[in-house]
Amino acid sequence: MNICVIGAGYVGLTTAAVLAELGHEVNCIDKDKQKIEMLNNSEVPIYEPGLKEFIDKNYNHLTFTDSLDDYIKRASVVFICVGTPSSEDGSTDLSYIDSVIDELSSRINSYKTIVTKSTVPPGTNEWIYNQLLEKGVSPELFNIVSNPEFLREGSAIHDMFHADKIVVGLRSGDHRSLAVIQEVYTGINAPYVITSLNGAEMMKYAANAFLATKISFMNEIARICEAFQVDVNDVAKGIGLDPRIGPHFLQAGLGYGGSCFPKDVKSLERTALSKNIQPHILQAVQTVNETQIDIYLEKLKTLFPDFTHLKIAVLGIAFKPNTDDTRYSPAERFIRCLSQFDCEIHTYDPQAKLQNPLPANVIQKDSITSAIRDADCVIIATDWNEFKQLDWPEVRQLMKGTIIFDTRNCLDRNKIEQYGLHYVGVGRG
Ligand code: UDX
Repeated sequence: MNICVIGAGYVGLTTAAVLAELGHEVNCIDKDKQKIEMLNNSEVPIYEPGLKEFIDKNYNHLTFTDSLDDYIKRASVVFICVGTPSSEDGSTDLSYIDSVIDELSSRINSYKTIVTKSTVPPGTNEWIYNQLLEKGVSPELFNIVSNPEFLREGSAIHDMFHADKIVVGLRSGDHRSLAVIQEVYTGINAPYVITSLNGAEMMKYAANAFLATKISFMNEIARICEAFQVDVNDVAKGIGLDPRIGPHFLQAGLGYGGSCFPKDVKSLERTALSKNIQPHILQAVQTVNETQIDIYLEKLKTLFPDFTHLKIAVLGIAFKPNTDDTRYSPAERFIRCLSQFDCEIHTYDPQAKLQNPLPANVIQKDSITSAIRDADCVIIATDWNEFKQLDWPEVRQLMKGTIIFDTRNCLDRNKIEQYGLHYVGVGRG
């Protein structure tokens, strides 16, 4: 099949690479000329394990361009994968989608299946359909499908090939698009969930909001565990054995971040409010997440009543491991809050960097060793594997102090303490 993917961000690039690997002729389009130039020079603008290998491998039928003109006419399927960021009031900013509709409307000359992968609030795909009609596109020449993506950064390629489901939202009476989507995904073995356009949009928001709820719930449980000297990791392990609860997304810590959860929970809250529905749970989920950093700062203050002259090493800047993404990163927020105190902060992350302006007392280091040398305290702010597997005797030698503050509940306390270090967490007994 000849497929156009509009948008070369996380979702667009991964989709383009996977569709090319499935054997399709794929053209990935983005307005950002610099990004396209990089991609054409075999450079991938984001860090995502495996992505570059897949792009390189499929170069002969995967092209990158900054203009729709050459390719859209040949394509039978068009994937919309542009960003849908938050507006100031928390609702979803659809301006990128709007400009894609504009550009598409003047170029649809033969039948196209238009597939929205971008996360959009309920009602958006119906609106896209109507917009295209209003702009003069004949209803004989297109249909629209909502096909939200559930991939996680850091394992995006794996998640697309091993999807637990393929959600397909269709307009009522659309008898053609399902077969098109099934042809597109031939080679991916996953159950199809077929629903309406609004149903598919809602599924994406409900999934992200539910996962965010699990995290905030465990963060609240961790606060209660702290008061009773209980290890929240034990609680997570115990309750996770119940198949009705499941073991995933029960890790308490600094809170959730990234380009999806914070924006999507907020957007669903706004969507509910716009229909006069009080989103009590969604609001509580966000309150816990926003105050999680304060809990950790308070704990740090009980360890060091005076921060003056302290040297603190913070390991981790990205919002989670295996990515260089710092969007809504709790680790970055923590570093910036900490920098308001009179102390010196040395940070290190294997992939991510703090963006300017950098506070004067924050120094980015290029190795773990240089970050932790002479530190009074080492804080693990992102659960990268290499932080979990540190050589603790060496850490003990390099540090001035002995406190290891684990804000991700990812370290083995016993292992650390046998080398004379002191493990501190929240809700860890
Ligand atoms: C998420 C969804 O998982 C994915 O399905 C959707 O398509 C996009 O949003 P992603 O943002 O890549 O993916 O990250 P994810 O692995 O879900 O983690 C989100 C945040 O929650 C991270 O900050 C992570 O550190 C945090 N988290 C996750 C926890 O604090 N505890 C957990 O148990 C799990």
